[in-house]
Amino acid sequence: RSVCGMSSVAGRRRALPSAFPVLDLPLLPIHKHIYEANLRNSNVWCKKYTEFSEKVMEGGGERAIARHTQRNRKLLVRDRLRLLLDDEDFLELSLFAGLGLPYGDIPSAGSMTGIGRINGLWCVFVASDATVKGGTSYPITVKKNLRAQEIAIKNRLPCVYLVDSGGAFLPLQSEIFPDKNHGGRTFYNEAIMSAMKIPQVAVVCGSCTAGGAYMPTMAEEAVMVHRIGTIFLGGPPLVKAATGEEVTPEDLGGARLHAEVSGCVDHFAWEEKEAFDYTRNIISTLNFLLPEEETKKRNTEEEPLHSLEELLGLAPKSYNYSLDVKMVVSRLVDGSRFLEFKARYGTSLVTGFAKIHGHLVGILANDGQLSYEATLKGSHFVQLCNQRDVPLLFLQNTAPTAALTLSTKQAEMNSNHLKAQGSMMSAVASASVPKITVVIGGCHGADSYAMCGRAFDPNFLFLWPNAKVSIAPPGHIGSLLPLDGEQEGEQKKQEEELNRMLVEESSAFFSSSRMWDDGVILPQNTRKVLRDVLDIIKQQRYQLSTETLQSI
Ligand code: COA
Repeated sequence: RSVCGMSSVAGRRRALPSAFPVLDLPLLPIHKHIYEANLRNSNVWCKKYTEFSEKVMEGGGERAIARHTQRNRKLLVRDRLRLLLDDEDFLELSLFAGLGLPYGDIPSAGSMTGIGRINGLWCVFVASDATVKGGTSYPITVKKNLRAQEIAIKNRLPCVYLVDSGGAFLPLQSEIFPDKNHGGRTFYNEAIMSAMKIPQVAVVCGSCTAGGAYMPTMAEEAVMVHRIGTIFLGGPPLVKAATGEEVTPEDLGGARLHAEVSGCVDHFAWEEKEAFDYTRNIISTLNFLLPEEETKKRNTEEEPLHSLEELLGLAPKSYNYSLDVKMVVSRLVDGSRFLEFKARYGTSLVTGFAKIHGHLVGILANDGQLSYEATLKGSHFVQLCNQRDVPLLFLQNTAPTAALTLSTKQAEMNSNHLKAQGSMMSAVASASVPKITVVIGGCHGADSYAMCGRAFDPNFLFLWPNAKVSIAPPGHIGSLLPLDGEQEGEQKKQEEELNRMLVEESSAFFSSSRMWDDGVILPQNTRKVLRDVLDIIKQQRYQLSTETLQSI
């Protein structure tokens, strides 16, 4: 507006999104050596990603798939999700959970979890894969399902459970049943979420035995499929053993019984497709608001200046192969536009604002050890974003344990540094805005906490396939440990053994198979994953504003 209050075309400002400066950081000849080494390394890890994905897609194997589809006449879990969700564009969580565990390979941990849209609304799904040992729950299954529920709680997302499970995997019962975060917690969470007005819906599309029986009965609304679904505490063999009575699964706990007599379920479906149609209709009755405006806005955003494929050569093979992290930022954000904050101060941490598919985010990105100044800057920026209600995105590439690389002069500063680290951790822990962490390189030592590692409770945490997760990086552990070998040769052997162990245990896949994150994602898919996650987070704010409106 002009000074006299009349609007003037010449004086009109351009829309905010395009006002951020452009980070045009192309690859240059000086980057070639490091870029190509990183690219070769990324290709090795991406191949592993493909191998592991193929293994997971096989579920419990050919024999179990034939038993599931032909003898038991049930749909496979991914086909069920095709009928439940709007499209196949869903965010799968922890695909590699369960691989290479001490008790064997449990593909997908026997349970697919993720976030997908049902009639436009983002919902968490937890779907048993009965081709993996009858869908029974291993310790890793419980952990995966609890994490999906935790995500639902943190982001206020409705939950849909597709239950087809023989209950506890009995040989490991002591690791599934007695403790607080064991199987029972799933049912507790259902009750707590209902109390928080986070809807809970279940579809019984297979066996729900023993503990599994509570999944649908604790839900607010449940659908059950005729002849396929059963709910009972003990199956026909148990009844026979206890009473000598012969009874069919259908008579003991089939869909007719539970829809007509016990009332455990609310909807009877003749077949699976009908059950999923019911479920989609149930979601339409939740009276949740849809962030339609946000979705529309997405069409106006600009793509980054340089190809996302180049992220493969920017994904550091090791800490020493890190290129300027701003090159990563410029390939993830809309129009490569980045409004840097404190650009000249504490430069081992890059902080600033950008948009990703139209969503404003505050980015903290680092290459290696955070200096004292960088840590102060990190605290300041986190507080700033919290004040403005802007979600935080951490791009983490933390360095080997600080003590290993400090000079004497720096060591003198150590105590100050510790205090500054503590205050950044405190700022991150107490910020109430949503937090997303992507480990793009190393996740080592104390800086990984300040950069919102798992213990700092980010809403989502993903790893690139090249990522390394360990307290100290391979190659250093020998110098940290007092080894007890008497001979020099023996000590060397112990050191080599420890390093070999550390190399194996620090891989992204080792971490992901144990559910220490929400999954390994390919660098070139990161922008899309961030788009979904930011959309999902936004949905919560719509629900909260409805509640606030209702309370006025
Ligand atoms: N613990 C450990 N393994 C189990 C199991 C359990 N609770 N339930 C099933 N399995 C295993 C079976 O031994 C079989 O293993 P295999 O493939 O190595 O042979 C596999 O899971 C599939 O079971 P199967 O009975 O062949 O398949 P199905 O599709 O005909 O039936 C169930 C699946 C789950 C309905 C059926 O196995 C069952 O009722 N299991 C007992 C459930 C139970 O009583 N649970 C109590 C938990 S407290």
